[in-house]
Amino acid sequence: MSRRRKIYEGKAKTLYEGPEAGTLIQFFKDDATAYNAEKHEIMDGKGVLNNRISEYIFSHLNRVGVPTHFIKRLNMREQLIKEVEIIPLEVVVRNVAAGSLSSRLGVEEGTILPRSIIEFYYKDDALNDPIVSEEHITAFGWASPQEIDDMMALAIRVNDFLSGMFAAVGIQLIDFKIECGRLLENDTVRIILADEISPDSCRLWDLETKKKMDKDRFRQDLGGMLDAYQEVATRLGIMNKNEQPAKSGPVLVKSD
Ligand code: TMP
Repeated sequence: MSRRRKIYEGKAKTLYEGPEAGTLIQFFKDDATAYNAEKHEIMDGKGVLNNRISEYIFSHLNRVGVPTHFIKRLNMREQLIKEVEIIPLEVVVRNVAAGSLSSRLGVEEGTILPRSIIEFYYKDDALNDPIVSEEHITAFGWASPQEIDDMMALAIRVNDFLSGMFAAVGIQLIDFKIECGRLLENDTVRIILADEISPDSCRLWDLETKKKMDKDRFRQDLGGMLDAYQEVATRLGIMNKNEQPAKSGPVLVKSD
């Protein structure tokens, strides 16, 4: 088996050198973390589920013309992606009050927002990913005004697509986080969607019962996180009810 060069290891994913220049392999780990990794557990099969759910979402986004880094799924835990320069911001879109918006502004969880709200957070573990304004972003050079516009336009298109996709299977999209990257293509730099979109990075509630079907099950010790992720995959038609993601998929070949 060939050894691969590790490019970057994050909390839930590892990036390896890809088979050709300009590509990377994104490996989905089973690690579940919250509160800047203060809370950490291994959830057997989470990586497999997130790989499949994120593949489904990114391939549909590519198809409707939203540019993403996704090329193809390679196996149960890995995707081939385009290498981009990650912009050090988390872009959060909120449709319904929850999480840090509720605690920061005292808006009751579940309140439908008068309009979708876009927020930016600076990706820095040591600082706990603080919320930042467009002024901070341009003053510190994390992104240009044009790039901020491009990220916001991308975020709105993703929100429209995801809201409809989830509503069709009885799921309400409360909020989600995306990350964007710069891709050099024919001498121009384009902003494209990177990272992943999965129940790790979205809040998803059952439309009828309001049951949480996302990482809040882990953050809030509600239990049943993997079953909820599996249900999201089943409702989207990605996996059938009896498919067992847990403990499946290739074993990571360690690079040294
Ligand atoms: P928040 O309410 O905790 O700010 O989270 C907003 C959304 O962003 C929610 O869907 C979870 C997602 N998120 C991440 O994916 N990664 C993170 O590090 C944080 C803080 C939030």
